[in-house]
Amino acid sequence: MTAEKVEIVKDVYWVGAIDWMLRDFHGLWTPNGGTYNAYLIIDEKVTLIDTVSANFTEELLDRIRTIIDPAKIDYIICQHVEPDHSSTYEDMIKAAPNAKIITSEKGAEFLKLHYPGVEFPLEIVEDGASLSLGKRSLTFVKIPMVHWPETMISYMPEEQLVFSNDAFGMQIASPYRFADQVHDWYEPLRAYYSYIVRFHAKAVLSAFKKVEGIPIKIICPSHGPIWRKDLDKIMEIYHRWSSSPEKENAIVVYSTIWKSTKKMAYAIREGIASVGVPAEIYNLEEEPLSRVQGAAMEAKAVVVGAMTYNLDPYYPTAAFMPYLKHLRPENKIGAAFGSYGWSGGATRVLTEELKEYKFGEVLDPLDVRFRPSEEDLKRCFEYGQEIGRKVKAAFA
Ligand SMILES: Cc1cc2nc3c(=O)[nH]c(=O)nc-3n(C[C@H](O)[C@H](O)[C@H](O)COP(=O)(O)O)c2cc1C
Ligand SMILES: [Fe+2]
Ligand SMILES: [Fe+2]
Repeated sequence: MTAEKVEIVKDVYWVGAIDWMLRDFHGLWTPNGGTYNAYLIIDEKVTLIDTVSANFTEELLDRIRTIIDPAKIDYIICQHVEPDHSSTYEDMIKAAPNAKIITSEKGAEFLKLHYPGVEFPLEIVEDGASLSLGKRSLTFVKIPMVHWPETMISYMPEEQLVFSNDAFGMQIASPYRFADQVHDWYEPLRAYYSYIVRFHAKAVLSAFKKVEGIPIKIICPSHGPIWRKDLDKIMEIYHRWSSSPEKENAIVVYSTIWKSTKKMAYAIREGIASVGVPAEIYNLEEEPLSRVQGAAMEAKAVVVGAMTYNLDPYYPTAAFMPYLKHLRPENKIGAAFGSYGWSGGATRVLTEELKEYKFGEVLDPLDVRFRPSEEDLKRCFEYGQEIGRKVKAAFA
C-alpha cells in the first residue's frame, strides 16, 4: 500500500520508488540508500517521465494509482535506457496499453538491444522537438554522453521545469523529496558525480551551453531529491566539477600489509598539513573505493601509497588507480610512495600510471626499505611538505 503523494507543481507528481536498502548502486557506494524517480503529468495527455528499476514496478504503479488509473497513461517518456529507468517497460506497456514510448532514435536502438523481441509502441523524437500535452508541453533536448549516448532531457516551458534524468542526481533514500529539506546532500551528490558523470565532463559543459539562457525554476532528476531553491548554487557546483573541481587540499591513500606504508602515509600527511594544506587519509582496504574517488575528485594533490607485492602495488591500491584515471586528473598533482623489501616495484608502477593518466604534475616517488626509520619518516614528512607547497603555489 503506497499512498504518499508528492505534487511538485500543479498536476506534476513525483511517483518514483525509494530503495531504502540500496548499499551498492552498480559499484557506487550508497550508504544511505537511493531512489528511482519517475514523474507523472496530468493533462489532456497523461504522461509519465521515466520509470523505475524493475523490482520496484509495483511501488511505481501503486503511486500512480493514487492519482490516476495507469491505463490512462498516453505517453511514457524514455529519456535514458539504462535498466534502472527502463526495466519496468514490459510491465508498464501492459498496465498502460494505450501508451506510446517517446524516445530518441538512439533510445529506440538501445531499447531493442536491451529487450529483444519486445514490440514497444515507440515514437521517435528529434532533438528540440516539442510535444503538446494540453495545457502544458515538453521540449526534448538531447544531451549525448551525459552519461550515455541516447540520453535526453525534457523541458516544460510553462512551469520552467526540467526533467534532467541522471544529471543533478544522487543516491540517497529519504522521506523528503526536495533538496532543501535534505541535510548533507553534498557528499552523495559528489560521489554520484565523480563515479558516473565526471568522466563525461566535456559533454556536461556542452549540455550547459545548449540550454544556456533557458529559464529554469525546478530540476527533477531521476535519482535523489528535486531542486527548487538556490538553483544557482547547484549549477555552480556542476560547472565547477565539470571544469576544474580541484580545491586547495590533498588526499593520501594507501594499502599495507605490515603497516610500514601506513606509517609513511601518516608522516606525509603531517608534512602536507604542516604547510597549511588540509589533507585527508584513506586506507584503501577499508574504504569503498568510490567514496575515496569522490574525495580525490576535489583534491589538488593525490598521493598514492602501496607496499610492493610481487613486484607490483598491493591489490587495493592497484584496484583504486583506474578510479583516478576516470576523474580526468589533468589539473592534479600526483605522487607515489611505499615500502618494499628487496626488488621494489610498487611506486614505479604507480608513478607510470599517474603519468599515463596525464596528471598535470607527477613527483618522483618516495621509497622506504622495510620499516621506516626516524630518518625515513623525516623524509616522508618533507615529501609531504613539498607536495603541500606545490598545492599552495597552484592557488597563489
Ligand atoms: C606477499 C608478499 C609479497 C612481496 N613481494 C615483494 C616484492 O616482489 N618485492 C619487494 O621488494 N618486496 C616484496 N615484499 C616485501 C614487502 O614489500 C615489504 O615487507 C614491505 O616492507 C611491506 O610494507 P608494508 O609494511 O606497508 O606492508 C612482499 C611482501 C609480501 C608479504
Ligand atoms: Fe544512467
Ligand atoms: Fe540512473
